Order: sequence, then structure tokens, then C-alpha cells
Amino acid sequence: MSKRLSTTVLGVAVLSLVTFGLPATASAAQHTKAERTVTDVIPAPVEAKADPRANFRLNPATVIRTDRDGRQVGEYLAGLLRPATGYRLPVVTGHRGGGPAISLETGHASDRVGTEGYQLKVSSSGVSLRAKTDKGLFSGVQTLRQLLPSAIEATTVQKRSWVVSGGTVLDYPRFGYRSAMLDVARHFFTPAQVKLYIDQIAQYKINTLHLHLSDDQGWRIEIKSWPKLATVGGLTAVGGGPGGYYTQEQYKDLVAYAASRHITVVPEIDMPGHTNAAQHSYAELNCDGKPIPARTDIEVGYSSLCINKDITYTFVDDVLRELAALTPGKYLNIGGDEAHATTPEDYQTFAKKVQPIVAKYGKQITGWHDIAKTNPPVSAVPQFWGTTGTDANVAAAAARGNKILMSPANKAYMDMKYHPQTPLGLSWAGLIEVKTGYDWDPATYLQGVTEQNVIGVEAPLWSETLVTSEHIEFMAFPRLPGYAEIGWSPKDSRTWDAYRLRLAKQSPRWVQQGIDFYRSTQVDWQ
Ligand code: ACM
Repeated sequence: MSKRLSTTVLGVAVLSLVTFGLPATASAAQHTKAERTVTDVIPAPVEAKADPRANFRLNPATVIRTDRDGRQVGEYLAGLLRPATGYRLPVVTGHRGGGPAISLETGHASDRVGTEGYQLKVSSSGVSLRAKTDKGLFSGVQTLRQLLPSAIEATTVQKRSWVVSGGTVLDYPRFGYRSAMLDVARHFFTPAQVKLYIDQIAQYKINTLHLHLSDDQGWRIEIKSWPKLATVGGLTAVGGGPGGYYTQEQYKDLVAYAASRHITVVPEIDMPGHTNAAQHSYAELNCDGKPIPARTDIEVGYSSLCINKDITYTFVDDVLRELAALTPGKYLNIGGDEAHATTPEDYQTFAKKVQPIVAKYGKQITGWHDIAKTNPPVSAVPQFWGTTGTDANVAAAAARGNKILMSPANKAYMDMKYHPQTPLGLSWAGLIEVKTGYDWDPATYLQGVTEQNVIGVEAPLWSETLVTSEHIEFMAFPRLPGYAEIGWSPKDSRTWDAYRLRLAKQSPRWVQQGIDFYRSTQVDWQ
């Protein structure tokens, strides 16, 4: 067998045997073998059938053919493939011109794929990707990307061959809301850093980015009617760093960038607690009208907006109006967590006044699950962040018809340490090794919250201890792909034992992308 493998004229059929465990004995074989097959993809597709005889090899003449609706995704795909291949990969519209092609087509897909799903067929003569929408094509492109060698992620031309693993895929998500949260309030991350994270999460078919834009230690979004929120409240960060904020122009650009990756931004203004930065910026927001100092420590639960002052609701109305105008998505997140400095009665009063403001500006509410106790409208989405399997308020909200976003802190909080010696992160919700982060299910975690009550899954990343993009990466990788899979893949297709093997195959890709990931000993990294 090794002799046959060393023969360079071999067809892809034999070469692809290498991927099933045979040693590669010739450099030619190493360069043409498929590193991964359709059954290795993360998140695991609904249906995937590898066909090692159907590998497709990109060549300098390959074109990306799209219809009009697929054009932007085609350009995105070309942008992914050009740097490492050095091929032209022109994006052409229509059916003219023969030759090998990656074809992206909207319409003509099975009804099963819905708005985000796709059908992919890789054969020796080309790649066909079909979906109902450009969003579906984008999902399919993320799968296609993983069927190429990891070197495709390189930013400079690599002299080698580019084999797409053959086979067919039919795929669509279990949940329509698959989110990652980034806390830009405790530490500020620049637009470029947020865009980098957007690209990192998009490759695993995450479709929502929740930005935690305000907290005790910093306010990060320009509000034109309350300018000091940004120019004063934006000056601080945990530990005394320089802080920062997004101008509305920068924020709009971020939202548009996310949209180009089929990601919806959900902005959060946390209230009535976690508001010290706002109240430091404007003394009139304090009950006694007196200035308060900035805070850069990581205590929680000490701040509260002044519930019985009219100006509080002028402030909230102005902020949510401006934020709604910057937000094409349907949700505004109004926080609501850890309002320990607000009495229970005041918390209810506040909720009753603020909920209609969100509706007035044409948006729906999301917020931490603490809002479940205020009997919010059924369109509101409480986000579960508890650590135990019972929460009467959340179960009652689910029974009333509210959909629940699942991010149990002891499973999904990516700011939790992996182990006691992890140099970054916190541990109040527990230690979250890769298996712990993967091995749970959003439809069975919480009593009274089953499949039909769950809108989706979020992986939050709080930033008390995170300052750089490397820090973000170290906490998000390798856990994030697991949350993406929990949100996308059929429950029955997921087992830790199989996942850890697939996850191991992702690491060369992260190396190429420059992602600084945690090398958990639970996974035999490649
Ligand atoms: C939270 O972790 N305070 C939502």
C-alpha cells in the first residue's frame, strides 16, 4: 500500500485514504490528501456523507460562479481563498464559461434547509452550494472552508495543492439564535479588535454578537443627547486603563461589518444596576444630585439608577432612542442583572417604565434572566445565566410564552478559568474545561425550559481580566466552537468522544489564523 501511495499519478480515491488513518509516505500524497472530510466539520452538519473519490482540486482557472443574490457571499469566499492560493478566483455571475467552478446558488434548495441552511456537493468536477438565502450560502461557505487544508487560512501564498474534500452535506441549525457576547465595558476593545472577533465567531456559524456596552467601569457608545456618557464615562476601565468608546459612526460601521458576516449585533445598556459610569458622568442621575467617583474595581451590585426621579426616564428614553436608531436588529438588551442596590419594588417600577420605551422605538427586549420576575411582554427574551437547574421565575416566563436564551454561567461563561492555574479569567461560576463547556444541553439544563422554550445559546465573555485580543482568543478558543455546535447541530449527533477528535483537527486552522488558544489536555491536538 505504501508503494501505491507514493505514486504521484494516483487518483484522489487512494490519496484520500490517507485521511482514514494510513500514513502518508510521499510528500505528493501529503499535499493532496484531504485533511478533513465533511464529517469532521464543526458545527456538525445535520447530514454529511464523505466521498473520497469526489475530491475537488482548486486550480488557477477555478471561478466562483454566483447568481445575483449570492454575489456578496461569493466575494467573501474569494476573499477567503485568494491570499493563500494566490489564484484569481474571479466571481462571475450567470452560467457563461465552462471550466471548474465553485457555484453558489440561491433558490432550488430543499425546503428543509430553511433560511440559514444549505446543501453542499463537492465532486471532482466542481463544488455546488445551494441555499434559500444568501445567509444560507454564508453558512455553507463556512463549511466549505473547513473542507480545505488549514493552510487556506494563511495570509500569504502557499505553494501547494488545494483539495476540497468530496461529499455531500445537507445542513440547517437547531436554533436560530446563536450568540457570543463581548464585554467591551470592563475593558474597551477597539473596532478592529471587535471585527477580528466577529470573523473568528462567524466561521462557526454564530449569527449574533451581543455587545455589553455599559457597566460600572465604563460607557462605550456615543449618545449625542448625553455626550458626557462617552467623553467622561468612556475614560475609565477596570484596573485604571485608558478606556475608550465607539462614536456612532464607528458603531454603525461595526454593525455593518457584522452584517457582512451575517451577524446581528444586539447592544446592551445595563440598568438599573451596573450604572456607575453613567452616574459618574452625570451627577443629576444620582438621587442626591451629587457627583460620585469613577470605579475601576470589579465589585458588583452597588450602583442603581434613581428610580423615583423623572430624569432617569428621560435618560433611558434618550439612550434607547439613539441606540434603536443605530440597530437594524430587532432586539435591545436592557441588562437587568445584579441590581442589588435597587429594592425589589423599585426594580418592578423601573421595569414597568422602561419596557414600553423599548417597544416605542420598535424593538423587542432581551436582558439577563433577572428580568423574568417583572412579567415582561412575551416578546422579551430573558437570558439565563444561573448555575443551577431550577429558576422559578425563568420557568414561569417560559410557561407564559417567553423564549429563553441559554447561557448558564457554569457551562457557557467563557471568562471562567479552565483550571485553577489559568492565568486569565474568574472562577465564581466554576472551572469550565472544554468538556464541561460542551457536554450539556440547552433544552434539558433548566427545569421547565424545554426545546420549544429555547430561542438559542449564547457564550458570554466578560472582560474584567481581559485586555488584549490574545486574551479574548485564549478564553474563547477552544470553547467557542463547542457553544456554536450546541446551538447549531442536532442534539443526537453530539457526543464528547467524537467532538474532541473533530476539535483537535481545528487547531492547525487556528495556528494559521494566529489564534492564541488554550491547549487543553482533554484534546489530542494535531
Ligand atoms: C451576569 O453575569 N452578571 C449576567
